[in-house]
Amino acid sequence: MANDSPMQHALRNIRSAARRGGLLTGARLLARRCRNPLQLATIAEDAALIMPGGAYVRARLWARVEHLVAPEGFLNGARARLEAICDSTHVTPDDARRWSILGRTLESLDRSGNWDAGPLIHASRSVLITAARQRSKAERYLRLAARLLRRNPRTTEREIHQAWCRVNGSQKANMDVIKPSDWWAFSRPKWRRDADFPGSIPGEVYANALYYFAPRKGIVVDAMAGSGMLRRVYRQRGLWQKDSAFQLKLHLFDIDPRRSYIRRHDARRQLPVRADWIFVDPPYFGQSGHLYKGGLATTRTYRDYLEQLYRVMEAMARSLKAGGRLCLLLPKWSGKKLGHLNRDLPGDARRIGTEVGLTWVDCAYVSRGRQQERGFGFQNIAAKRARRLVSDTCVLNVFENRMRSR
Ligand SMILES: C[S@@+](CC[C@H](N)C(=O)[O-])C[C@H]1O[C@@H](n2cnc3c(N)ncnc32)[C@H](O)[C@@H]1O
Repeated sequence: MANDSPMQHALRNIRSAARRGGLLTGARLLARRCRNPLQLATIAEDAALIMPGGAYVRARLWARVEHLVAPEGFLNGARARLEAICDSTHVTPDDARRWSILGRTLESLDRSGNWDAGPLIHASRSVLITAARQRSKAERYLRLAARLLRRNPRTTEREIHQAWCRVNGSQKANMDVIKPSDWWAFSRPKWRRDADFPGSIPGEVYANALYYFAPRKGIVVDAMAGSGMLRRVYRQRGLWQKDSAFQLKLHLFDIDPRRSYIRRHDARRQLPVRADWIFVDPPYFGQSGHLYKGGLATTRTYRDYLEQLYRVMEAMARSLKAGGRLCLLLPKWSGKKLGHLNRDLPGDARRIGTEVGLTWVDCAYVSRGRQQERGFGFQNIAAKRARRLVSDTCVLNVFENRMRSR
């Protein structure tokens, strides 16, 4: 129209390009030619309303806005200039930044040559936003989305995201499972105990122990495998391994195997394989007699328990390859009544570790969540009355075999 502003004109061009299927080209041209960042930002926000393709245009244009405002990074007042543009276009600086990062990813894909952005025109705004959230994996996310949309332009954002999560896990799950510090509390475990095995630990403990302490390739063993939780968690490593690309060979043993894939072995004897990483979650002192048979579970005195534990740790130390690691999960024992002795089981295990030639390297504190257990109210009251702290934390002690050979 004769009295169109240059911006309205550009937007009209984009709209008609969209109708002719040339939207992507139009956006790329505009991003290359226009040198006025405010104008580009305004067009980006108007274009965002165009379907299909608006989200693509918006991202490409915001990348250009940021490039024009801060060609060498946010120096010399560039941040304030960008904020002023955001203000005028009613976009938060965080959103602008997100769109601009996504735009740069799209730019780099467009330049890569082996990429056809065409199918993305059908992608909804949230597909692109979800791609942006994957940060360094955004390019891979977009490639997957484009591939699925090429096959079927009606693929929904949910289907795209499910396909992504099947291989990579959801970002939320990744963030939830792997803890950043040595305090590991999992109030709502993703891997819950099997109904027929009440003594298993949340799978998240295995995920974190592998993530932080296992090699990326090699032989890993659960020497007291119980419900086989290690196998479940490893099989779903897409949910937590991030960029680790684990290639581990799993061996599960137990003195009383309850799953077909767990082999019978007494951990007081050297393992039939040499391992790079061993996990041991023994029956805990004084509280497992009702759950498991014999050995550590039924020792009457603390001294007997430590003797058995010594035999287990010695055998595990002999089963480790040089540089291999042993993760041992144990709680403190708190006597139930005033006057009962407390037993520092993790501390004693640490001492035994040194005696059998291992070097202690790290530990993490794992919440047992006992206070919150259903039916635990009575014990909580009793503990307060008796002035005895309920043992609600396990310590995961990590040892390394620094000896060349044994
Ligand atoms: C606390 S459970 C392990 C649970 C396991 N971490 C899970 O999440 O399913 C302890 C296991 O150690 C096993 N066990 C006890 N003494 C053992 C020994 N000497 N050698 C091998 N396994 C033993 C028990 O049969 C039991 O399955």
